[in-house]
Amino acid sequence: MTEFIHIGEIFSKKHAGKEVSIRGWIHRKRSSGGVQFLVLRDSTGIIQAALKKENISDNAWKDADKALLESAVTVKGIVKEDKRAPGGYELQANAFSVISFSEPFPITEHQSTELLLDLRHLWLRSQKLTNIMKVRQHLVNYLREYFYSHEFWEVAPPIITQAGCEGGSTLFKLKYFGEDAYLTQSAQLYNEVFITALEKIFVLAPSFRAERSRTVKHLAEYWHLEAEEAFYSNQDNMKLQEELVSYACQKLAKNHADLLEFSKVKPERLTKVSPPFKRVSYDDAIDFLVKKGVKKKWGDDFGAEDEEVLTAGLEKPMFIYNYPKQGRAFYMRVNPDNPETVLNADMQAPDGHGELIGGSERIWEYDELMKRVKEEKLDVRSYQWYIDLRKYGSVPHSGFGLGIERLLKWVLNLDHIRDAVPFPRTINRVYP
Ligand code: 4AD
Ligand code: MG
Repeated sequence: MTEFIHIGEIFSKKHAGKEVSIRGWIHRKRSSGGVQFLVLRDSTGIIQAALKKENISDNAWKDADKALLESAVTVKGIVKEDKRAPGGYELQANAFSVISFSEPFPITEHQSTELLLDLRHLWLRSQKLTNIMKVRQHLVNYLREYFYSHEFWEVAPPIITQAGCEGGSTLFKLKYFGEDAYLTQSAQLYNEVFITALEKIFVLAPSFRAERSRTVKHLAEYWHLEAEEAFYSNQDNMKLQEELVSYACQKLAKNHADLLEFSKVKPERLTKVSPPFKRVSYDDAIDFLVKKGVKKKWGDDFGAEDEEVLTAGLEKPMFIYNYPKQGRAFYMRVNPDNPETVLNADMQAPDGHGELIGGSERIWEYDELMKRVKEEKLDVRSYQWYIDLRKYGSVPHSGFGLGIERLLKWVLNLDHIRDAVPFPRTINRVYP
């Protein structure tokens, strides 16, 4: 059996002058005189293979001629250093075979965005999206690594639930054997269960939001990294968040400069991301906007344009804390120093990339929670188990949720959140 190596290994020098076999897909193709130049791609990189008519069999020559872009092929040849070749090496082929011939590939240069989204199953193999997927796996890995090295346990809450977490308007409803149920918007309420056993926990799972708006920051299905911490105040919670995000940014910059640069991101941009992040109260954020000439009054929400003004030119994310209680989720603890506000914080990305994290201190006392449940007219039956937690050894606690695609969008400075996920689900797209 032939032993294949990955294209990436060829660039490690140790194969120079030796014979190797590789397999992959035809990425580019041209011929000149008696030579066909095939640029091959595998998961690790691309390399040019030069097929000279006199060095390979007639059948191989004919197949190479016939094989269209994206055909899957194998090549055996000698690794030659060649300054002109991309990456500095070329494969001088002595054997070539086709694993499967591709039909004419429907994606050529300068396709419309809509067509690329319709052909997402084929476009995912592009170098642009492949690179983003690689950065994504490293980013997620470092975020997990941070939790594992700071006494957090990873837990597995349910996806199907009857207790909405973030308000009724964005719930995806489904029939659950005759009963009404929803796809989860957030694991938070379940996360609060785990802390009485494990104290500090996290979960990475999909969350679902029936977002009716078309924006560059909203998906209907996204990956949500959520943590919950017993005995943490809102301040402790913010400190944890800035350390987590900084850890992942630093590691990416240090270990994956090549991937970042491929996506046109200077690693130094991420090296600058370190604690502490700026903390601005909601009150001060409103004042800031008013001074900038934005029409805002106390109690208003921040829209995309406000976020842009607030975060323009920042080198690292910032927190906005203690929002008005009105309009916030029912579980947020009221600020004892100003009961019109809650003990929460949003982490905002620089330059209007949007909210990366939403977090808060939770109501941990029974009476206070029941008051909010009634104010919000929640169906007590669906939340009884959550309310119960306040009766059996409840403790102060905090937690937060980070949108993986939001973070990746900012890290790689992507125009649209849909490129941070392989198969984006948005208001007008659930195919492919
Ligand atoms: O601010 P959110 O709604 O907070 C919660 O769900 C809390 N229960 C989390 C918790 O405390 N455990 O969502 C948290 C984060 C946002 O900051 C954002 O990064 C991301 O989830 N997010 C979305 N990402 C992509 N598309 C959407 N439609 C998103 N909605 C929220
Ligand atoms: Mg939020």
